[in-house]
Amino acid sequence: MTAATTVLKPDTSSSYDVAAIRADFPALSLEINGYPHAFLDSGASAQKPNQVLERMDQAYRSEYANVHRGAYTLSQLATDNYENARSTVAKFMNAKTPDEIIFTRNVTAAINLVAHSYGREFLSAGDEIIISHMEHHANIVPWQLLRDAIGIEIKVAPVDDAGNFLMDEFEKLLNPKTKLVAITQVSNVLGTIVPIKEVVRLAHDQDAHVLIDGAQGIVHEGVDVQDLDADFYAFTGHKLYGPTGIGVLWGKLDLLNKMPPYQGGGDMIENVTFEKTTYRDAPARFEAGTPPIVEAVGLAAAIDYVSIIGLTNIAAHEQSLLAYANDKLATIEGLTIIGQADNKAGIISFMLGDIHSHDIGTIIDARGVAVRAGHHCAQPLMDRYGVAATARASFGLYSNKSDIDQLVDALNYVKEIFG
Ligand code: ALA
Repeated sequence: MTAATTVLKPDTSSSYDVAAIRADFPALSLEINGYPHAFLDSGASAQKPNQVLERMDQAYRSEYANVHRGAYTLSQLATDNYENARSTVAKFMNAKTPDEIIFTRNVTAAINLVAHSYGREFLSAGDEIIISHMEHHANIVPWQLLRDAIGIEIKVAPVDDAGNFLMDEFEKLLNPKTKLVAITQVSNVLGTIVPIKEVVRLAHDQDAHVLIDGAQGIVHEGVDVQDLDADFYAFTGHKLYGPTGIGVLWGKLDLLNKMPPYQGGGDMIENVTFEKTTYRDAPARFEAGTPPIVEAVGLAAAIDYVSIIGLTNIAAHEQSLLAYANDKLATIEGLTIIGQADNKAGIISFMLGDIHSHDIGTIIDARGVAVRAGHHCAQPLMDRYGVAATARASFGLYSNKSDIDQLVDALNYVKEIFG
């Protein structure tokens, strides 16, 4: 397991067999508009390997029933699979126990869970929380809803023009009123890798809790939650080559067990009468209703898949692609990269002259290249850089130099069209 703050160097060995990896992903061999599929939108959602697709198919075909509810064979098998998936996630993050792993729908659901449950139990009017200027809306809006409900204050830690997180400025915002720091590990727009271990240390010095949005981070950096020592960490399955509809909230167990339920329903209860209901401990307390059973199995298969390749190898591969892409994109006159932090992951947001990013996205799609265009659910960050939207190329473990060459050719074609 890679420590969360490790800076990985480009992999110069020949052991990373990207061609073999690509063969595992059916979507990568599609022809898109007559061109090879250059999929450069893994930051939005990653493609899925056969190992995940086949595992989920098997789980639906011959291992499927509801979990924690039946005494019969298939229900017990499904329950074992679901709980084994929890153990796989726990091991992947180096959690102390699988009980610290709560399955949610995605990161947005995980952060909303914390904002509702922890927020109302641990925060009150006048308390401050700190987020960063780089946050995705999912790590802004839940706190604004909480602010509007109970009167907390939200402070914003800035970034510099290159997209570096300004640790000194963050430190100045910390004070005895700070109760929570909620921050991303990797910016989904700039690719900035935030030194989250230092953030956690400084926040804990002020007795503030820390939530890390690991949506982009776990894919590019991994996490060791015991080493990091944050209080909450959230990530999603679909960016980690697993299915949609499943995310993970990790939290320290004693903290989770002090938090009230977020949603009520089946499986989270201990005992129900019309007068009073008592609740189970985590993780069941926070998993009301039928959970994402087969999605958990698929997520575990995805974790097994990336673990075999190795997160360190994946990150090194992506770093070498980042260096290659930076060089190639620099040859395109009028192209500006938004986000040139000293330490960044395989995410490149860019502008091409005054051509709208949606036009870029649409035209390069005609050449088989998929990128995200728009504000990337980070409008305050767009405002910070004075732009309404960018195009964004983001790499996955299967990305290769041909994808980048195809992107560069397609961008030159965009320039031709716009003269
Ligand atoms: N949060 C995802 C992205 O950055 C959807 O594209």
